[in-house]
Amino acid sequence: MDLKIQQAVALLDSGGVVAFPTETVYGLGADASNPEAVRRIFAIKGRPANHPLIVHIGEARHMHEWAREVSPLAERLAARFWPGPLTLILRRGRAPLEVTGGQDSVGLRMPDHPVALALLRAFGGGVAAPSANRFGRVSPTRAEHVLEELGETVDLILQGGDCRVGLESTILSLIDDPPVLLRPGAISPAELEAVIGKPIACLAQPTDVRAPGTLESHYAPDTRLLVCPTATLENSLDACLAQGFRVALMCCSAAGGTLSRHPGVQPQPMPNDASAYGQALYATLRALDMQGFDVIVVEAPPRDEAWRAVNDRLGRASHGSRQ
Ligand code: TXA
Ligand code: MG
Repeated sequence: MDLKIQQAVALLDSGGVVAFPTETVYGLGADASNPEAVRRIFAIKGRPANHPLIVHIGEARHMHEWAREVSPLAERLAARFWPGPLTLILRRGRAPLEVTGGQDSVGLRMPDHPVALALLRAFGGGVAAPSANRFGRVSPTRAEHVLEELGETVDLILQGGDCRVGLESTILSLIDDPPVLLRPGAISPAELEAVIGKPIACLAQPTDVRAPGTLESHYAPDTRLLVCPTATLENSLDACLAQGFRVALMCCSAAGGTLSRHPGVQPQPMPNDASAYGQALYATLRALDMQGFDVIVVEAPPRDEAWRAVNDRLGRASHGSRQ
């Protein structure tokens, strides 16, 4: 077995906290059956204790250990999408209440990343892991992000390169009927509905405390973020420049690209493909955040279904300053 994985397993066995890569974002993991170790995660993140963690597993059959009443539908979804960026909310089995934030439900996911899978399979148990960032901040998509943000407070950071998806997993609650989409991600409602065989419900106003990822002001950089439709972009830039602001512009269309040549504006071209945009989003926000701009203006991406997860995260990152 890889030495780093061996070291990580030994740390998890002794109550340590290990950051590891997944295909979505980096996670901050501890043994899900060890409440003491799980409490360390909350302390390191500065996360309120009632915000539940996802239990990561290396084999789908381990679902039955953490959840009870695993339905045939849950089995079908796991068979179709795991390993992959889907978290299923089920009724709690032997998952400790420390992990589930006191709720009688549990979030389960099998990540699709070779390092994560090697870790989970070598460890054999469940790994409770939120994204490896401070509470309310942008999730890390590179090992260096974890090091910058959490540094010495973590026992080990496993390297795994840039996350392929870059946005957190889709969360689907199977406790409700029809199932409810609690957080949009790379796996779309249409893909889920194709397996479920009926429409799911989508949380329109994400204010439910069950999922802190659904708090309105989550995923926020320090710099003010302003999301503007292409049609009003020029006016918004002029207004910012008139106030003497240092402005960065994240643009994703040809028209936006033209405006980013506005004098005084630092251009940040973004992909015009939703998956590539999602992959780059958090790393871009982090990089711009470190450059001392007064405002990051974001050209609003298209509103289509393919962009749902990106628009969701941009909406939260710009909460309070959206135009
Ligand atoms: O892609 C991901 O899901 C990443 C990687 C590391 O797996 N993890 C992640 O964890 O984003 P975190 O803790 O940052 O966000 C997990 C979300 C939270 O919004 C949490 O409230 C929700 O999952 N969640 C976990 N258990 C839940 C439950 N029992 N009921 C409702 N929501 C739950
Ligand atoms: Mg998070």
